[in-house]
Amino acid sequence: MTQSRPLTVSAAQTGLKGQVTVPGDKSISHRALMLAALAQGTTKIYGLLEGEDVICTSKAVEALGAKLQRNKDFWLVEGCGVGHLKEPGDVLNMGNSGTAARLLAGVLATHPIVSMMTGDGSLRTRPMGRVSDPLSETGAKFVTRDGKRLPMTIIGTGDGKPLHYKLPVASAQVKSAIMLAGLNCTGQTCVEEPVATRDHTENMLRHFGLDVSVTESDNGGRFIRFEGPASLKARDIIVPGDPSSAAFPVVAALLIPNSEVVIENIGLNLLRTGIFTTLLEMGASIEIKNERIEGGEKVGDLHVKASTLHGVTVPAERAPSMIDEYPILSVACALAQGTSRLQGLAELRVKESDRLASTVALLESNGATVSVENDDIIIQGQTHLAGGGLVKTHMDHRLAMSGIILGLVAQKAVKIDDTAFIETSFPGFVTLMNNLGAGIKV
Ligand code: S3P
Repeated sequence: MTQSRPLTVSAAQTGLKGQVTVPGDKSISHRALMLAALAQGTTKIYGLLEGEDVICTSKAVEALGAKLQRNKDFWLVEGCGVGHLKEPGDVLNMGNSGTAARLLAGVLATHPIVSMMTGDGSLRTRPMGRVSDPLSETGAKFVTRDGKRLPMTIIGTGDGKPLHYKLPVASAQVKSAIMLAGLNCTGQTCVEEPVATRDHTENMLRHFGLDVSVTESDNGGRFIRFEGPASLKARDIIVPGDPSSAAFPVVAALLIPNSEVVIENIGLNLLRTGIFTTLLEMGASIEIKNERIEGGEKVGDLHVKASTLHGVTVPAERAPSMIDEYPILSVACALAQGTSRLQGLAELRVKESDRLASTVALLESNGATVSVENDDIIIQGQTHLAGGGLVKTHMDHRLAMSGIILGLVAQKAVKIDDTAFIETSFPGFVTLMNNLGAGIKV
């Protein structure tokens, strides 16, 4: 990331109107590039997110030996085959992305190569022990900075021991890292997750021909099992629009009077749609039309109309299905009637920023009444938000976009210290909002 990009956003003057598509799903895009690099043959990826995070992943898999070609409507990736990645000639830079760093750490742990990995100032503060500790059990060696942080060196093993691992936190990133390591180990890999988390890795591995079994555990979690070594066959992938990105124009349309927008082609995997469930519980007018299956994932069009929202209690068990949506949900709660309780948010402390603290600061600095009890955020809804605050984004794209939406619905203009990180997940965000009539002056 180069120069910071501050922005001041004033209240929208008219309702949002129109029909738009948002960029491709970030989680699916990272996985598409990594699995394509591990497959035999050439994978064609349609709708890949071309945000900075995913571009970092594309460069990393290229450095590991995959051959990439960007075309107008799709990317072509010629894979190396599981076990055949080559040693990168330089440090792998994973930019701002915890997903890219952690998933790739899984892949690299069980390839007999030495690699080094770093990231930007935000990623270098984030905990890697949650993957390096279990992955060390394969026989790989990890050398990390103090606090198990990046930069880190991975000395991979070509003779990895497959893991049976019970996740201590509900994390699709950790689950996926263990699974990706298992691809090049002989024998069964088994991951037990306490709560179901996004299952794009499982779905895509099946799409590439691996027999992945998923069974429910007694306590509502899941066991995921497969036998390695895996042989993955290249298949076309269609990446749907990212529901986490769609959440921003959806909340804006709900809060700005007289809005009526359609957001087309959004991924509706049930392990990602907690935000829409929650907004519907708050009284949102969101209709899903044209539901279909594309590239193995459920997709549909969201028809959203301005609505009067009321407060909601979001249970901790729902957090994994909307883990990235709390900053923008909190803006909706601040303008809802009554009190909202967002429960069980400990994981927000280790995102691109400490999102528990930065979400509270986002609201407080703009006149909302908000408090924290243990890992819960409690927001008192009000009819008007004063605005006028400075949003500190801490290199966090979702804070920046939430700050912009807050500016559109507050009374006084809101300053955002840096919007440059929006490029990591949602290139063209301000243009898309302006195409809907938001009137943001850049
Ligand atoms: C992701 C999983 C989530 C999420 C991240 C993307 C993924 O992280 O916050 O933005 O693609 O697997 P955790 O699994 O660590 O909660």
